[in-house]
Amino acid sequence: MARFSGQNASRKYLFVLSCVALLGIVLIADLLWASSSASASSPYWSTNLDLALESTGVAVHASMPKPAKKSSRAAEDKDLKDLNATFADLPAPELEWKEMAEAPVPRLDGAAIQIKNLLYVFAGYGNINYVHSHVDMYDFIGNTWVGRFDMPKEMAHSHLGMATDGRYIYIVTGQHGPQCRGPTARNFVLDTETKNWHDLPPLPFPRYAPATQLWRGRLHVMGGSKEDRHEPALEHWSLPVMDGKALEQEWHTEVPIPRGGPHRACIVANDKLLVIGGQEGDFMAKPGSPIFKCVRRSEVVYGDVYMLDDGLKWKNLPPMPKPDSHIEFAWKVVNNSVIIAGGTTEKHPVSKKMVLVGEVFQFNLGTLEWSVIGRLPFRIKTTLVGFWDGWLYFTSGQRDKGPGDPSPKKVVGCMWRTKLRL
Ligand SMILES: *[C@@H]1O[C@H](CO)[C@@H](O)[C@H](O)[C@H]1NC(C)=O
Ligand SMILES: *[C@@H]1O[C@H](CO)[C@@H](O)[C@H](O)[C@H]1NC(C)=O
Repeated sequence: MARFSGQNASRKYLFVLSCVALLGIVLIADLLWASSSASASSPYWSTNLDLALESTGVAVHASMPKPAKKSSRAAEDKDLKDLNATFADLPAPELEWKEMAEAPVPRLDGAAIQIKNLLYVFAGYGNINYVHSHVDMYDFIGNTWVGRFDMPKEMAHSHLGMATDGRYIYIVTGQHGPQCRGPTARNFVLDTETKNWHDLPPLPFPRYAPATQLWRGRLHVMGGSKEDRHEPALEHWSLPVMDGKALEQEWHTEVPIPRGGPHRACIVANDKLLVIGGQEGDFMAKPGSPIFKCVRRSEVVYGDVYMLDDGLKWKNLPPMPKPDSHIEFAWKVVNNSVIIAGGTTEKHPVSKKMVLVGEVFQFNLGTLEWSVIGRLPFRIKTTLVGFWDGWLYFTSGQRDKGPGDPSPKKVVGCMWRTKLRL
């Protein structure tokens, strides 16, 4: 395990890392000096880069410093790119992955809940202009996809909040439709035994990707983005529920979360409510666009960990080894540890492209210590994670361009697993 303590190996790594970073800074300064092209100052970047299935990268390349002298600069430019492509990867021990049966459809920003040996995989973008409105089921015993059924038409297709009591799945708010369309405040319950759906009282306000979990008999919903998809929300609401039914009709106001925003892991373990990682800001609809075309806005990704144990005051726990977002269904609790697979971290400082995460993190709930326990077969965001019989599984999401380029490219439906040893 690559622990984040003063071990020899990690010190050596840090030293090498510092040298690489220093070299990088020198190269960059050189490039900036040689270049007279100022970078674009538009608040928007083209969305093609991060959400489309196939991207051209045109908009971002336009803002990259241009080499002055072709031949020698080109080589340096390539070195710089290679250097930075892997810069953000943390050292990790080897994990052996095996590819399993691919999901019937690719999905980005889908949602997933595991109940016993079944992984229920909901909704998601197939591509930026198409969203799924059904559930696929994977069986960890037979290791196959075993069926699908439709969602209610009014249910959101991405940025959902979701939690389960082991039979009923509670589904709150989210984005309804493709591109960067508006959110719905409507909430639903799925009875996984009968496959029946029914309504829950709507949220006071709709949200995008709020942290959602069942805790002490109440469904808790907090953070997320507000109606414009970008502004972080701090509000925290709860609703008492039992056996798929709301016990009251009104959401109750709870203590606001210290930091708002979407795409966080929200976990109950040892009777404590944990909220991990996430971001402030997100893509939003271009004003006046009839298709609600997504445009990129500023984002701050963070690795903060907040914990509520008394229901009254949020406490800070040690942050993740790096900022990580898009992890709302990318986690499992195994042997008193939280395991998190993939995500997105801060954007690349030079190319400004989104940087995907390839690490598998462990947060030991006993020692409150983070470690990197391995690497995924590639960097990927919005993975949907399950655990069965010692195997850690992940499916779906948007993966990187390749080992040398951590920016997002293909939306996938593949399923992989590795034997976990904690
Ligand atoms: C490379 O990327 C890292 C962050 O990923 C940044 O801190 C560093 O300054 C970059 N170096 C160069 C040379 O671009
Ligand atoms: C969890 O703990 C049990 C009991 O100590 C052990 O047998 C098992 O291998 C552990 N699981 C993982 C994934 O490490």
